[in-house]
Amino acid sequence: MYKSIKITDKIAKPDALAVALFDKTKKLPAAYDKLDKSCGGALSSAIGRAEFTAGAGSVACVYTTKGPGRVYILGLGEKGNGDLVALRSAAASLTAAAARARVKSIDIHVTPALDKPDAELVGRALGEALELGNLAFDERKGSTSPKKDGLKSLTVAVEKSLYKPAKRGVTIAESANASRRLAATPPNVCNPGYLVKYCRKMAQKTGLSCSVIDAKKAKAMGMGGLTAVGSGGSTPPALICLEHKPRGAKNKKPLVLVGKAITFDTGGYSIKPPTSMVRMKYDKCGGMAVLGAMHAAATLKLPVHVVGLIATAENMIDAASYRVDDILTMYNGVTVEITNTDAEGRLVLADALAYGCKHYKPAAMVELSTLTGGVVVALGEYCAGAFCNDEKLRKQLFDAGADVGERLWRLPLWKEHRRLMRSSQADIVNSGIREAHPIQGAVFLSYFVEENVPWAHLDIAGVADIGADRDWTGLFPKGPTAFGVRLLVRAMEQWK
Ligand code: BES
Ligand code: MN
Ligand code: ZN
Repeated sequence: MYKSIKITDKIAKPDALAVALFDKTKKLPAAYDKLDKSCGGALSSAIGRAEFTAGAGSVACVYTTKGPGRVYILGLGEKGNGDLVALRSAAASLTAAAARARVKSIDIHVTPALDKPDAELVGRALGEALELGNLAFDERKGSTSPKKDGLKSLTVAVEKSLYKPAKRGVTIAESANASRRLAATPPNVCNPGYLVKYCRKMAQKTGLSCSVIDAKKAKAMGMGGLTAVGSGGSTPPALICLEHKPRGAKNKKPLVLVGKAITFDTGGYSIKPPTSMVRMKYDKCGGMAVLGAMHAAATLKLPVHVVGLIATAENMIDAASYRVDDILTMYNGVTVEITNTDAEGRLVLADALAYGCKHYKPAAMVELSTLTGGVVVALGEYCAGAFCNDEKLRKQLFDAGADVGERLWRLPLWKEHRRLMRSSQADIVNSGIREAHPIQGAVFLSYFVEENVPWAHLDIAGVADIGADRDWTGLFPKGPTAFGVRLLVRAMEQWK
């Protein structure tokens, strides 16, 4: 893959041309005529063939004797059938195809094939996907793997109307890729201590401010959840606070983002069966989404005051670990009877949410976590489960998600659900009976958010990482997706 992707609006002699087309295109859009001529009629002869297809997300290479010698056809699938999803998928594959061919520059044209293209969203989709496609998780390949390709930069010329949004899209996806790299970092390297150091360094580089509530301080402050969950970890737990406070921010009270960052989840004494423990390094992905969104907020200098709280701990077995039957007192005084040490995320989040409310008096709170296996069973990898107590906030998040292709689906949270968490000796249990697990998680968290604060809980357990190569979006290889970064950036841009 390339060191970087650079967007321009013109290249004199590109190594390749790339053109978006719908499946079963019978007649070339007129705006493509000049391009077609420049490559000796390769496009019109391609669509003239009986076997021509341009399936959603496909990339086909046509070699020509005229022009750059190489034309990529980006498949959009059937007309009107989720054009942007197909475009993102094809653009991500294009980066990989170009890298394999050691192409250094591409001239891309897409809008003539699209129906009423919104330049902002199309450019964004293109830029984001090219950069998301520029990540292979091969940093830790060793001596028996092939040598890496050592490519420098890929220069991509896009249509003038797409130039600015595509450039911005690349920048946003660079933040998402930082989040993905970190999420993929194995748990023997990326533990809570590592995350603290990473955030301090990142804050310095990007101009965020970073303060850390370390384990000692957390305990003294009464953060019983974070303290208990982290007590068996290889490094102590922490609450990392990142802040972006630009002069002239359009919001008076901050937006507070909260993320679960369990660097590895064994389940603790309620230990997970072996097959469920695999991939549990991705249990930090909520926190990594917050990290990526904060990185982007600073890099893009978004005019919103935003705070990112990352609650990090490692859920391990040790003599010092917490147990089932323990009763914990959380930061806001709520007591919790532990019925399952594998329901640990909600415990670290409880302290983070309560701290966020008390300390920042937020305008709104958005929390992301790989919280329950139940949401994976219910919704799969197609969308995150969303709980929200405020219609305005809910709409902002859903719209943002739709714009960037990170879907949310609403799940209910009613006061009747509160009975699910009743405890005989403490205020609540951390895990109830078998039914409605994702809702139990949300109910639990609701005890730690102050009443008047608009709040959303996004359960991203199904979407944070892709288990098999190529997901439905066609955007990601096996590994972390940084789900939430692009959604949060869009929501912050549109913040009202
Ligand atoms: N990190 C897991 C949830 C998870 C499961 C994420 C699968 C990604 C894929 C969470 O900490 C957990 O263990 N949840 C339990 C909760 C239960 C013990 C109440 C679950 O969902 O099984
Ligand atoms: Mn767990
Ligand atoms: Zn977990």
